[in-house]
Amino acid sequence: MTTPPQHFEQRTETSPSQPGCSVTSTRTTAGSLLEEYRTFVARAWRDPATVGAVIPSSPVLAREIASIVPTAGSPVVVELGPGTGALSSAVAERLPAGGRHIALELDPGMVEHLRTNMPQLEVIEGDATDLGRILREAGVESVDAVVSGLPWSLFPGESQGRILSEVGGVLAPGGAFTTIAYALALGSTGARLFRRRLERGFDEVVMTRTVWRNMPPARTYICRRPVS
Ligand SMILES: C[S@@+](CC[C@H](N)C(=O)[O-])C[C@H]1O[C@@H](n2cnc3c(N)ncnc32)[C@H](O)[C@@H]1O
Repeated sequence: MTTPPQHFEQRTETSPSQPGCSVTSTRTTAGSLLEEYRTFVARAWRDPATVGAVIPSSPVLAREIASIVPTAGSPVVVELGPGTGALSSAVAERLPAGGRHIALELDPGMVEHLRTNMPQLEVIEGDATDLGRILREAGVESVDAVVSGLPWSLFPGESQGRILSEVGGVLAPGGAFTTIAYALALGSTGARLFRRRLERGFDEVVMTRTVWRNMPPARTYICRRPVS
């Protein structure tokens, strides 16, 4: 018997911190997974320079990215570039009942998909370069964790710097930030510059092992203690 490709794993997620609360995932059935892929590929085809990937992140990578989400208290978590919600399910899985999960997405088609398929998510249509203002308007003063699926390599250096400084500006002193780094591109000049930006913006920058069960294989940066 052949094992199904990892991206097609079927699962219904249950939040350990919210007893009896089943997280509505876009990935619970083969049909909804196909719908997720169809939306993602269509949006990527329409605007490759914004979406920056051809398929959503895998559940394994999503769990790595979401590992900084606090599992107790009433944390505020912000997700940048949620796309069709591949990382959102893993964030929701860890988030305690009193937590808040805000997803900031630029692409209107992705926003519509999330609002239809993940109604529990607080989706805001907007640009990560305006993160501070958008959060203030949403009544949020500081954030415990920021998880990012943004396509950094497609951004000009100025936008990278602006978004990272917005992230540093909203994170609480003990807060953490995670983002995806595609393994095969790590040696590129752009990737080295991005790492230097992270090291300037945070006191601690750790890179995790490669997640091979993702297309393309990827690592995650885990950054703590924003430098003000
Ligand atoms: C590579 S996709 C990642 C989607 C999803 N997080 C995943 O891992 O499968 C990048 C996402 O970031 C969004 N995006 C790009 N630039 C953005 C910006 N400046 N502000 C907010 N979202 C942005 C794109 O529309 C897209 O949905």
